[in-house]
Amino acid sequence: MNIVITGANRGIGLSLCQYYNEQHAQVFAVCRNASDDLQMPGVTVIDGIDVTDPVCVNTLVNKLADTSIDLLINNAGLLSDEVLGNIDYDSIEKQFQINALAPLRVAEALLPNMQAGGKIMMVTSRMGSIDDNTSGGRYGYRMSKAALNMASVSLAHDLAARKIAVGIVHPGFVQTEMVGFNGDISSTVAAERIAARIEDLNLDNSGSFWHSNGEQLPW
Ligand SMILES: NC(=O)c1ccc[n+]([C@@H]2O[C@H](COP(=O)([O-])OP(=O)(O)OC[C@H]3O[C@@H](n4cnc5c(N)ncnc54)[C@H](OP(=O)(O)O)[C@@H]3O)[C@@H](O)[C@H]2O)c1
Repeated sequence: MNIVITGANRGIGLSLCQYYNEQHAQVFAVCRNASDDLQMPGVTVIDGIDVTDPVCVNTLVNKLADTSIDLLINNAGLLSDEVLGNIDYDSIEKQFQINALAPLRVAEALLPNMQAGGKIMMVTSRMGSIDDNTSGGRYGYRMSKAALNMASVSLAHDLAARKIAVGIVHPGFVQTEMVGFNGDISSTVAAERIAARIEDLNLDNSGSFWHSNGEQLPW
């Protein structure tokens, strides 16, 4: 099985690479700068890829030109904070580029490498749920992940005829740099749970929004 994972150098992406490498899948680890932890026998590192940059995405396409992809995990993401009264709109735009546009751009670019039975998993956040927003704030992150969720549902519809399933998963509150390592589960546990959701993903439940623990989340 050939698996492409973005944001692979650290956090949840790195743990996903470790998990699938242990399962003897062929992992293509996509990142801007490879970390020492990512240097694992069996893992192919594709570095120098900023997922928001169309030139980099084109480079990625060229590097994977002869590779059939069974699973694409769009994991790269950015969390920033904005304060009402002094909102940094550049910060919101940057999160849109990384969290919403890049996963769609990467998925679209790599679609020619995917066949019937292929899967795409979008790593989103429950902070992108409108129903679940009980605390406000986090404008850029919430808005960009909500946009990702919408794009993913459109992709699920558009790819149904090609028999490619699209999942949308909130990893949980995970101990990574993004949250100052304050999560309640490790990235190893998050990766195992995301892998279980990927296992469950099929054409019947394509377009669903899950917590990695298996709970279905409200939009
Ligand atoms: N941790 C949580 O509690 C939590 C909760 C909900 C959702 N999530 C989601 O889970 C995913 C993984 O996050 P994490 O917790 O593992 O955070 P992390 O440790 O901060 O990792 C973020 C990853 O995204 C990559 N990235 C950011 N901007 C990029 C760009 N322009 N091009 C390429 N790669 C880029 C980073 O690469 P660099 O090292 O090059 O910056 C890094 O590999 C994200 O989508 C995040 O929104 C996390």
